[in-house]
Amino acid sequence: MIVQMIDRLIGRIGKSKALDAVGKPVASEVQKLTEPTVVRNALSGSWLGHPLHPVLTDVPIGAFTMATALDVSMGDEGAAAAKRLVGLGLLASAPAAWSGASDWSTLHGAIQRVGLVHGALNGAATGLQVMSWFARGRGHRGTGTMLSLGAVGLTVGAAYLGGHLSFVRGVGVSHEAFQTRKSGWTDVAGADELIEGRPKRVMVGETPVVIVRKGGHDHALSATCSHAGGPLDEGNVEGDCIECPWHGSRFRLADGEVERGPASIAQPAWHVRTEGDRIQVRPAPR
Ligand code: FES
Repeated sequence: MIVQMIDRLIGRIGKSKALDAVGKPVASEVQKLTEPTVVRNALSGSWLGHPLHPVLTDVPIGAFTMATALDVSMGDEGAAAAKRLVGLGLLASAPAAWSGASDWSTLHGAIQRVGLVHGALNGAATGLQVMSWFARGRGHRGTGTMLSLGAVGLTVGAAYLGGHLSFVRGVGVSHEAFQTRKSGWTDVAGADELIEGRPKRVMVGETPVVIVRKGGHDHALSATCSHAGGPLDEGNVEGDCIECPWHGSRFRLADGEVERGPASIAQPAWHVRTEGDRIQVRPAPR
């Protein structure tokens, strides 16, 4: 019963196009602010090989939860430690919020709207924690405790929506994770079908693979972008990388490593060889 009510509520948020009046311009501004490659890579987690946002959120959520646990279980005795934990949570909230905003800014439609409400709830929770920290500083421990309790309630709601985005809607999940990679060499194309610098899509079983001839060498990567499933074979070759046409992630042709986010997970690479007049591929070890 409760689950159905929550599902209906999330469904309504997803359909609420009025949210786009706020979401779209904010997403566009976030995209502009995170445009430099060094910023985009730092926030998306390209350097970590894993989305950064879920890692960073553990710190503020843990600190705020422990502050509330001390408030409830230790009273005045735990007041100083609880205030320090609220302060730590606030400091850790900024990078967590920026990494989340960067990820969110590439979303569209219903998932962008749900993400907007997720961010708004976290923003409201942070506001209450700021008020709590000041109240605690002035010696109003009871007020601080109540404000933190309210904030933790909002954080639980925001966390539910974040979990929904990841585990129900697949945001942040590698979009090639469930594709099989048939072992052994597979004949996929004629050698004369490859044109220097032009990506070619081939199929290995049900898995799309993009082959690129660059500087006389042939490279192959899985063609479904790990970020959100974009078709890499429709992207451009930029230097030694291929750029996804959907959100501009760049993957090194040689090994699939991420050169530019928002993707954070490397693209699986394939070995390529020419046998007579045929091109063959087989999965490279991850
Ligand atoms: S789908 Fe987003 S960068 Fe490829």
